[in-house]
Amino acid sequence: MLQDKTILLGVGGGPLTSTAVEVLRTLQRAGAGVRVVISAETETFVPGLTFRSLADGDVIMPGDLYGRMGAQDFHSLHGLVKNADGLVVVPATPALIAKAAAGLADEALVRAMLLHDGPTVFAFVARAAEYRHPLARHNVQRLRDAGMILCDAGVAETDDAADELGWNIAAATVVDAVAAALRQTTVLSGRTVIITAGPTQEPIDPVRHISNTSSGKTGFALAEAARQRGAEVVLITGPTHLQAPAGVTCVPVRTAVQMRDAVRQHVAAADVVIKSAAVSDFRPATAIADKIKKEDATLSITLERNPDILAELGAAKGNRVLVGFAAETRDLLANAKRKVSKKALDLIVANDVSDPAIGFASDHNRVHLIDAAGGVEPLPVMSKRALAETILDRVQAVLTQRQGGTA
Ligand code: C5P
Repeated sequence: MLQDKTILLGVGGGPLTSTAVEVLRTLQRAGAGVRVVISAETETFVPGLTFRSLADGDVIMPGDLYGRMGAQDFHSLHGLVKNADGLVVVPATPALIAKAAAGLADEALVRAMLLHDGPTVFAFVARAAEYRHPLARHNVQRLRDAGMILCDAGVAETDDAADELGWNIAAATVVDAVAAALRQTTVLSGRTVIITAGPTQEPIDPVRHISNTSSGKTGFALAEAARQRGAEVVLITGPTHLQAPAGVTCVPVRTAVQMRDAVRQHVAAADVVIKSAAVSDFRPATAIADKIKKEDATLSITLERNPDILAELGAAKGNRVLVGFAAETRDLLANAKRKVSKKALDLIVANDVSDPAIGFASDHNRVHLIDAAGGVEPLPVMSKRALAETILDRVQAVLTQRQGGTA
């Protein structure tokens, strides 16, 4: 997996800085070319010369940015980041994690993190007492939510001096995490993924419509995560307040029929379709051209069925991976399982929308994943971004299996 890959090694500063030297050597033994960016604290523990003599190319120093940086250094930082397949930060101290979480790019290493658009692995080291602090946990969670990988074998279980040895991290564990991250990227990279998101709006008259409370957050998180894994993403979205992630082709629509037309237009190229949109099942049978007046005591609106976009896709599925969502208020698993087979899905994300604390408008959700064989995987409450990553992991597993187990 690591053969002929270029890995950017960001070296933090702390008692475990020497582990970064071991990681560098282990990556090289696995066939990777390793470039290095060191942090402001690194040289307090290990001299930059150690990395300069081992790395495959120049080592970027912390001051190689802004003030002290010459044009040459600036270009070499960009060049390094652009050519890197992955970035690994060792040791990722709480201070470095906090800087990364805040996007505080005041030194070359954090700048490299922001510029890099491939997988990023943090070999997180902390004493238990530090990690217990809510701010440290918050920062770690922010990185996870941004799709970064925390390899946290370096978190001490307790803070007893006797446990000092537990505060350690094995180079092999870090390198395994890098290889796993690259493997994940490979399967989706270059594939076309269609994601539908948000609600649809079905006009009643020029100023009124039927809709639902879907925020689009899960679909947008999926689009961003799939893009970061190297996919070509087409995000077909009903009206939301969200901004489309960079690098994604966004197709805004309003009604279910418009969404179906947009899906049809793009589906031929798609390897994966994820239908997270909350499509209105019904629309007013006649579009009323003028605003409805309130003269009458009652008003009846006849509704007719919208096309079931996902069922249509399932009927002409080919080799495509199809993922649906099931928002239910009762009999969640039974209803979701029925939809998996009815719509020929590979995976359904079953969502109990009767709980107001999670789901539609929230930033978090708790769902069950159900696969084509009826296997049920209950997931804990997690951020919608973390959920997006989990869904994409399962999609990749299906793609990998379909291509005969080769990632
Ligand atoms: O059958 P139900 O509407 O509960 O199924 C939900 C799934 O089907 C979601 O993935 C949703 O995006 C999709 N769907 C669709 N077209 C519809 C209704 C739902 O594609 N008209």
